[in-house]
Amino acid sequence: METRIVRLDNIETSATLIHEAAAMLREGSLVAFPTETVYGLGANALDANAVGRIFEAKGRPANNPIIVHIAEPESVRQVAVSWPENAEKLAHHFWPGPLTLVLLRSPALPPIVAAGGPTVAVRMPAHPVALTLIHAAGVPIAAPSANRSGEVSATTAEHVLKSLGGRIDMILDAGSTQVGLESTVLDLAQTPPRLLRPGHVSRAEIEKLIGPIAWSEVHGSAPTAALPSPGLLAKHYAPRTFTECINPPGLEIIRQRSQHGSRVGWLAFGEPAERIPGVVTVIMPQHPHDYAARLYAELHRLDAMGLDRIIVDWPPDNDEWLAVRDRLRRASAHD
Ligand code: TXA
Ligand code: MG
Repeated sequence: METRIVRLDNIETSATLIHEAAAMLREGSLVAFPTETVYGLGANALDANAVGRIFEAKGRPANNPIIVHIAEPESVRQVAVSWPENAEKLAHHFWPGPLTLVLLRSPALPPIVAAGGPTVAVRMPAHPVALTLIHAAGVPIAAPSANRSGEVSATTAEHVLKSLGGRIDMILDAGSTQVGLESTVLDLAQTPPRLLRPGHVSRAEIEKLIGPIAWSEVHGSAPTAALPSPGLLAKHYAPRTFTECINPPGLEIIRQRSQHGSRVGWLAFGEPAERIPGVVTVIMPQHPHDYAARLYAELHRLDAMGLDRIIVDWPPDNDEWLAVRDRLRRASAHD
């Protein structure tokens, strides 16, 4: 299959092109599109065959459910039967935006979207291309991140092409995504609500609106059975290159690892005291949002260089860095 790449750099032609993509989605095609977090791989959520093609294209395990994307909050009704007061409060405050809510699934939604489970994850993305596309398609859009299963998510159309080229019908290219990490996933089908995946919308912001929620920061490898969310597998969002986090960060380890001609890429936390010759050094921002926005692009870039090892300075241990720590832990997990 040839993957058509459509650049949306011209305001006059963009609307027409997005409508073409929407028609393709309605007919069962797979279209990758930008959201504010990462690129998504979209299919008509009401078409079980189309959703089945997502699992094939990504090599996604059948037990991993997919987030449904909508263009207005009212569309939740098409896919979920519950809408608790907490959902109303959170959607009112954070939608459109990087917060995914897990609700009780509607019988109208093909079970494959939910991997056969009783719930469905829903979000309304804050990206004009995504919103126009979903609205024009006229159906809810199932969309996991647009990457082969287990790989680092795509924050540019080039990343999507590299990972899924030849396996999907179209990529809508609107440049780099802003947030850079996948959405926060909050399960409202349990009491108290549980944070399944940390993201840009923080635990503190959520708790300010709805009170205490359950959460646990995974340390080390998690067991793979009975996970609340299969996307929470220990190893995920991972470069092909062996990746290691160092805590506390220190020049000595970088020096050691780069001995004997070993080619090392280093995501340094801020400007290092010293540059080490031969080490590909990336100076990462020291604000969590800026760091998140750059992380995947840097991992993709270093991964493409065929290095022996990627080393990442471990970021601070406070709540602000929860989502970044979560992704780094998975990127450097070994199975
Ligand atoms: O920012 C995002 O969320 C991006 C963009 C494209 O919207 N999407 C994304 O999808 O990251 P994906 O499939 O790569 O990750 C979705 C996560 C997975 O961990 C999955 O297991 C979990 O959400 N999930 C989906 N449906 C669920 C459900 N019904 N119950 C629990 N977890 C669910
Ligand atoms: Mg993903």
